[in-house]
Order: sequence, then C-alpha cells, then structure tokens
Amino acid sequence: MFVGDSLNRNQWESMVCLVQSVIPPGKKTLVKNGSLNTFRAEEYDATVEFYWAPFLVESNSDDPKKHSILERIIMPESIEKHGKNWKGIDYLIFNTYIWWMNTFTMKVLRGSFEDGSTEYDEVDRPVAYERVLRTWAKWVDENLDTKKTMIFFMSMSPLHIKSEDWGNPNGIKCALETLPVLNWLQRPLEVGTDWRLFYAAVRVISSMQKAVSFVNITALSELRKDGHTSVHTIRQGKLLTAEQQADPINYADCIHWCLPGLPDTWNQFLYAYIASRTLNA
Ligand SMILES: *[C@@H]1O[C@H](CO)[C@@H](O)[C@H](O)[C@H]1NC(C)=O
Ligand SMILES: *[C@@H]1O[C@H](CO)[C@@H](O)[C@H](O)[C@H]1NC(C)=O
Repeated sequence: MFVGDSLNRNQWESMVCLVQSVIPPGKKTLVKNGSLNTFRAEEYDATVEFYWAPFLVESNSDDPKKHSILERIIMPESIEKHGKNWKGIDYLIFNTYIWWMNTFTMKVLRGSFEDGSTEYDEVDRPVAYERVLRTWAKWVDENLDTKKTMIFFMSMSPLHIKSEDWGNPNGIKCALETLPVLNWLQRPLEVGTDWRLFYAAVRVISSMQKAVSFVNITALSELRKDGHTSVHTIRQGKLLTAEQQADPINYADCIHWCLPGLPDTWNQFLYAYIASRTLNA
C-alpha cells in the first residue's frame, strides 16, 4: 500500500502498470472507493493499493475528491483516523512533500475538526514537517510489526518550474525539455527542493525503533527535467484541450511524471530492497 500525496499515487500507478500487463483480462480489477484505490490480481490474491493522506496526519485536505484547498490546515499530532487503515499490510510505502510547498508556514489547528475548531497557529514549514513525521514515527513504532510489514519512506520528488534553474532562460517551465540535466557536475543543481525536509526525514527515521527504509530519490530525480507530464496531462479528469496544450505557462504540469518513466525507477529501488531482504532472511 502506497500512502501519501499524488506523487505516491503516481508511483502506485507505475507499480500497477508494471504488474498488470502480465495478468489476463478478467483476472484483475481496479476499484476506487473514497481515500482508497485498489488494484487486485485475483489469481495471486494480491492487491496494490493507494491511500490518499497528503500530510499523513489528519488535515482539511483529506477528501480525495475535494482537496484543492488553498488554506491548508493540519492536526500534526492526529494520525489514527488514517492509521487504522494501514494495519496488517505487507508493504507500506509512505511519502509527504508537495502539499507543504505552497506556503512558507503551515497552519496548525488549535483543537480538532470534529469539535468544529477553526483557529490555527502558523508554524514554520520544517518545524511542522518534523512534528508530523514524529507523530508518524511514533505510530509506526507502536502499531507495526516488522516481521509482517516492510516499511518504506520515499524522499521528496522534486519540481521543475523555473527553467533558469538549469540554465535555460528561454524555456517555459519544463515544457520544452527533452533531455535530463547533463551539466550538473559543473555547478550545484538548485531546483527549489526544500532540503530541510529531507534532513528532517533522515533524522526522524534514524531515531525510530522499527526499521524503515528511506528511499533516496530526490537528487537523482532533480536531473529529470524532461520526465514530467507537462501538457500531456489531465485536469479535472479530462485531457488538456489543444488550446490548453498550446499554453504551457498556465497548463504544463512540472510536478507529476510520465509513465513509463521515472517512477518505474523508484519502484525498481523498492524491488531491490524487497528482493535483497528475502535473500538475507
Ligand atoms: C468502500 O469503503 C467503505 C469504508 O471503508 C466500505 O465500508 C465499503 O464497503 C467500500 N465499498 C466498496 C464498494 O468496496
Ligand atoms: C541521496 O542520494 C544522493 C545521490 O543521488 C547522494 O548524493 C546523497 O548522499 C544521498 N543521501 C542520503 C541521506 O542517503
């Protein structure tokens, strides 16, 4: 089960694509039900699932259909509402990043949504992020059994919004890019990744009792300015029209990734972790 934001959904889609082609029609199903998307391979009694929880903890962005909320508010110490759906799974792959990036501070609710609270505090992004990961880590330590469950945390998937970042002042976001960054050894690549969150995750995971594999995809993915869906994408459930495609400044998606593509590589990393554990067992 992949748990997190739309980048983890992107990786779930990749995983489903990787396995589904060898399963004949009628032996596989794909069901979307609220926060949970489930691909089932009938003959294997196996599922590949995605659970929507963009902040991992409880937030006002948890509705999988109505989540385009600008005023994002979280409850950083509240995880059980989602966590109860993660128990008893064989492989859990977590992430959280993109929803943190539209403001420098995060709104932290005073009280709870259930009680109708609306007041909040503004907390610096890395401080709130680490608080959330500590809540998640405590939940993992208290609720998961690593004999049954293998646990992963995906590091951040980077964006490619400003073509000046990779030395192409005439570009339009990532829209016209056809090659990875190739000159990266000559200067540090700086595409706006918030590395403070990366190191917060490293810190929290290294302090946990349970073994969690930190899957380090950030730096290598920063090179892939050419790999995004760009104008070949979907908005509100529909492919972009020809007019929208001709307007990449407004419509190019330089956050999510084409498939086949980079998320397949991330899944190969997962496969390597899983296969090497079996060998060591
Ligand atoms: C959808 O999820 C709800 C809550 O988990 C569950 O009660 C219901 O049976 C599910 N529906 C389908 C069609 O799977
Ligand atoms: C993550 O991977 C990059 C190379 O892609 C490497 O330079 C960096 O040291 C790694 N960091 C951690 C914490 O594993």
